[in-house]
Amino acid sequence: MNFTDKVVWITGASSGIGEAMAKAFNAQGARLILSARNTEALKRVQASFKEPNISSVILPLDIQQYRQMPSIAAKALEAFGKIDILINNAGISQRSLAIETDFEDDLRIIEIDLIGTIALSKAILPHLMTQKDAQIVVISSVMGKINTKYRTSYAAAKHGVVGYFESLRLELEGQVHICNIMPGFIATNIVKNAVSNSYNPDNQNAAGMPSDVFAQKALKAIYQRRKNVFIGGFKEKFALILKRVSPRMFDSVIKNMKVV
Ligand SMILES: NC(=O)c1ccc[n+]([C@@H]2O[C@H](COP(=O)([O-])OP(=O)(O)OC[C@H]3O[C@@H](n4cnc5c(N)ncnc54)[C@H](OP(=O)(O)O)[C@@H]3O)[C@@H](O)[C@H]2O)c1
Repeated sequence: MNFTDKVVWITGASSGIGEAMAKAFNAQGARLILSARNTEALKRVQASFKEPNISSVILPLDIQQYRQMPSIAAKALEAFGKIDILINNAGISQRSLAIETDFEDDLRIIEIDLIGTIALSKAILPHLMTQKDAQIVVISSVMGKINTKYRTSYAAAKHGVVGYFESLRLELEGQVHICNIMPGFIATNIVKNAVSNSYNPDNQNAAGMPSDVFAQKALKAIYQRRKNVFIGGFKEKFALILKRVSPRMFDSVIKNMKVV
């Protein structure tokens, strides 16, 4: 696995999965554009790199400001003159019942996880179409294929992401490869950063796969130009299979499970 000479743009590179993938790409020789809102955290990630200032640049962005994505994409192109791989990873989750979730929070989840992701990808797509072997990677979720309580808008956004990018793949066949990576429970700050309410769940993600283990598997999938990849534990994998085989049985099982 070698990404020498590849330019990789990662959103949500300040924490969790994005941070771990940025470090793994740096170790494999890629040049990186690191994006998120928290510039100090991005600098911390960059400082851990080999040759930090040669191999990477920081490009702050708030993906919820989706109308700004064309000008941000233009800045990203100026950094190294090209982009080979866009990793759409920035996102927030939800741990609240629909009835207790402010509509503004529903909007925030959908604007960050879905609309901003589409806007950014469309802004850089004309360039990617001129590149040989370019890829768009989406870090969606198992929640793009299944559903549970406490995740209404998150599931809506992630189903939207999967639907959009699997359709885009058909349009771009032979031009830009689309890799949809669906994580299960990964140990990151996702629960701490989630839209939440007074309900205080156990944090299942804390016991999930370590983010550096996830990153190695994700890079391998990207290198192999896989199309749809699940990375997570047995429970989430079983849920994906059950939903496909018997949606009715899936609903009755998940309805009675302690979902947090
Ligand atoms: N961890 C899991 O179990 C799991 C499972 C399935 C899917 N995922 C997906 O994996 C992705 C990464 O999540 P994570 O687990 O690594 O969580 P995390 O540690 O909370 O990281 C989320 C990242 O998204 C960025 N972000 C959030 N809002 C943003 C905004 N408005 N503009 C730009 N960047 C923004 C954050 O950066 P700033 O705060 O600095 O902006 C941060 O870098 C998400 O799309 C999530 O849905 C995670």
